[in-house]
Amino acid sequence: MLLDAQLKAAIIQAALYSPSADNSQPWQYVWHDTGDLSIWSDPQLSGKATDQTYVLTDLAIGNVLEAIKLQAKSLGIDTELNYFPDEDPMHVAVVSFTSQTNQKLEADDCELAKYIADRHTDRRFPFSGKLDVNIGRQLSESLNDENCQLHTFTDRKEINNYLPLIKKAESIRFRAESLHSELFQTVNFEDPTPSQGMTLGMLGIEPFARPIFRYISTWRNMQKLNKIGASKMIAIRSVTLPIRLSPGLCLLTASGESRLDMVKAGQQMLRFWLAATKLGLSVHPYAAPGVLTLAKPALDPLLTNELSDVEKGLAEQLGASATAIMFFRIGFKKGLPIRSQRRNIDSMLKIVS
Ligand SMILES: Cc1cc2nc3c(=O)[nH]c(=O)nc-3n(C[C@H](O)[C@H](O)[C@H](O)COP(=O)(O)O)c2cc1C
Repeated sequence: MLLDAQLKAAIIQAALYSPSADNSQPWQYVWHDTGDLSIWSDPQLSGKATDQTYVLTDLAIGNVLEAIKLQAKSLGIDTELNYFPDEDPMHVAVVSFTSQTNQKLEADDCELAKYIADRHTDRRFPFSGKLDVNIGRQLSESLNDENCQLHTFTDRKEINNYLPLIKKAESIRFRAESLHSELFQTVNFEDPTPSQGMTLGMLGIEPFARPIFRYISTWRNMQKLNKIGASKMIAIRSVTLPIRLSPGLCLLTASGESRLDMVKAGQQMLRFWLAATKLGLSVHPYAAPGVLTLAKPALDPLLTNELSDVEKGLAEQLGASATAIMFFRIGFKKGLPIRSQRRNIDSMLKIVS
């Protein structure tokens, strides 16, 4: 089915709102003469450090594909996805569009589509509120892929089973040069509204702590402060306190670890996040435990051991059949955080020769 320019623009705009690790927006698109839409990973913005096996990119592109599906559905159009359609590993999916047939799906998906523009990351804390006893069921019902599951924890004891694992994985980001460099490359210290990456304000760093973050943006300084426990303090500030001061924690798991599994997990991630947004919940993702244990970046032996402790800890909690993808701190928070920006849509058009 051929879409007119207005429908195409609405679909690409929805894709643009999708979340991506460090706001990297690592994707490109091409409209074909047939009316199909190809989504590619951007070679300049993917495949580095923790993304060497494309875990982060595939999750982000999964979010993009689901946004396209939901937006199309809300415009009365069905979609069919053909994943990794050819030999090119960067060509993640071709989306075909057809007139709508399935009325039941239409209602649920149209409802989720309404929240595409509002969905955002909220790194502020504390999150307040008592979560409804049915919250886990309500959020899980938004998923529609039996290979992915959403676990929602509101019980302190259950949350505490995961807290040390998240803390350990997050602190590794500040103790390995490659991960530190990857993280700080995405922080923009100059432009208050960068179209890619984030500012310290967007990262939720308090004004008084921003000079310290500027200081530790070089690996030399980070190493110096790590001697007096900086990475541990950062983990307490970014993981322990926010999670302790929030009423719930969610974990998205998948039953496989292939690139296709990651793309599909990304699709479910967006569905969960939109459902949470609909319920008025604030959402703060924590990718390090799942993504680092999946990507297995080259680290020194001490950190490799710590990462394998995280992996073992997750397996003890989840069993062998489920793979942890991403944690999300949830709760209620008034007002809005500083929202991240997006690139100009024209810069995402893939030039095909
Ligand atoms: C695969 C993936 C991993 C992410 N990991 C983290 C994370 O570990 N910590 C965090 O604070 N935000 C994380 N985010 C959120 C992104 O930073 C966020 O989506 C991006 O900056 C765009 O902002 P928005 O969600 O407000 O639109 C992640 C998002 C995705 C899709």
